[in-house]
Amino acid sequence: MSINIAIDGPAGAGKSTIAKRVAKELEYIYVDTGAMYRAMAYYFLQKGISPEDEGKISEECKNAEISIAYQNGEQQVILNGENVTAYIRKEEVGNMASATSVYPKVREKLVELQKELAKKSNVIMDGRDIGTCVLPDAQVKIYLTASVQTRAKRRYDELKEKGVSCNIEEIQKDIEDRDYRDMHREMSPLKQAEDAVLLDSSELNIDEVVLAIEKICKEKG
Ligand code: C5P
Repeated sequence: MSINIAIDGPAGAGKSTIAKRVAKELEYIYVDTGAMYRAMAYYFLQKGISPEDEGKISEECKNAEISIAYQNGEQQVILNGENVTAYIRKEEVGNMASATSVYPKVREKLVELQKELAKKSNVIMDGRDIGTCVLPDAQVKIYLTASVQTRAKRRYDELKEKGVSCNIEEIQKDIEDRDYRDMHREMSPLKQAEDAVLLDSSELNIDEVVLAIEKICKEKG
């Protein structure tokens, strides 16, 4: 039986950075489920579909074939045979992912793929509904969060470093909108699983969060 670690939490809490590090140290496979929702969103954007058009989006789900592959240990998302990993990080795609991930057809398709991946290998999977819905039997569940100000500041610093001009108030507003949508949607909203350990990273650096998670894994295993 494979061993699974579920990490959920709001946008910008550092889930992917942390999960990647833990995966490396424990020799697990890291699965970034947000990237799958982003790849679907990228497909809908390319097709010019409105995020409000649930009918069209549901219909188009069957035409967007998503799979993942690994290149030098990094997850790649393949959409209809094309590696779209480099195109899905833009804010536009993130916002479309947040808007379209509310639809049952989108979620059902991706949750099935995620469950399959977790059956095959030991995974550390991050997202919004992993502990509550995708892997309810995961051996370790973490709910990783941080204050909205901290998350906005981290995102601002990240974009600045890449030379992207940005405004911290706008970033914070974007994060708040995304959190609200993720937490209030009807199907599998973002929430802490009853058996998840809450970790607030507002006052912690990456090493401290990684250590805390490894400690939780040891205690559980
Ligand atoms: O984590 P990331 O920002 O890449 O996710 C993009 C969007 O995909 C989230 O805002 C959320 O709406 C959606 N998502 C989801 N369930 C997951 C992972 C991501 O609904 N398991």
